[in-house]
Amino acid sequence: MTQNKPAIHSLTDEVLATLEGCKDDRFKFVMSELVQHLHEFVRKVDLKPEEWMAAIQFLTASGQTCSEKRQEFILLSDTLGVSMLVVALAQARASAAERAATPATEATVQGPYYWEGAPERKLGEDIAVGVPGEPAFYAGRVTDTEGRPIANAVLDVWSGDGEGVYDMQIEGPAEMRARGRFRTDAEGRYWFWSIRPSYYPIPMDGPVGGMIERMGRDPNRPGHIHMIVSADSHVPVTTHLFVADSPYLQTDVVFGVRDSLIVPFEKRAAGTADDGRSMPRPYWTAHYDFRLAPSNG
Ligand code: BEZ
Ligand code: FE
Repeated sequence: MTQNKPAIHSLTDEVLATLEGCKDDRFKFVMSELVQHLHEFVRKVDLKPEEWMAAIQFLTASGQTCSEKRQEFILLSDTLGVSMLVVALAQARASAAERAATPATEATVQGPYYWEGAPERKLGEDIAVGVPGEPAFYAGRVTDTEGRPIANAVLDVWSGDGEGVYDMQIEGPAEMRARGRFRTDAEGRYWFWSIRPSYYPIPMDGPVGGMIERMGRDPNRPGHIHMIVSADSHVPVTTHLFVADSPYLQTDVVFGVRDSLIVPFEKRAAGTADDGRSMPRPYWTAHYDFRLAPSNG
């Protein structure tokens, strides 16, 4: 075989040779690239046995931290920028056919706090009744990439509260809050009430938290509200709106911020809001128009 070459160099070829019988071309390609990059990395950092063992222990602890409610491996992917890279590649691929048109709203990471099946709400409803935080009015339109309004598009919305806490993080019986699904009207418009979301740290009590600390990084995400915007015959987009003057916009620990998703939140005095709601206390307004790409172009 390859006994004459030192193992440092021959091992990569030896492992690659084992893929010869692989019938799945895509899997073969991905695995051979993985082996080559991984071996190159090990050679480049001159990985010591005790470092290899520390990595094994880190991955083992990450697996052991996973539960129905927690996915430490996705958090690892998020904090190393891999999730955002995969999201950006997927969006570029999906919209490759319509490069000439106005681009679709940029996608960003979904994060761990999506809860399928949020209740359908009427336009103008408040999804954050009783939730700590300052009230905020969200409004705008959903259009296609030519600017044509999309009626009956769905905005599946969720956020933490004004103190940076998601419903899923609260001990006790699981109860949805600050979540809801809205459908645009005939002119593609949406509007609803919630709170102005606060910045918050990712879960830091597991192995990924230890890694973030050891890397000397800040664990926070800037204030944001999540949404999945979808409509028939269009590519759905999973995205956020980021609060323009939030701390940590420059250092989002999961690299999710896109300039096009940063939205000014304007402060308004108590009084009658744009949708006619009487507001007894000051509130914020945020305006954003979403664009969806056609799905079969
Ligand atoms: C979030 O948006 O809540 C989030 C995203 C990625 C990792 C952790 C939290
Ligand atoms: Fe979030």
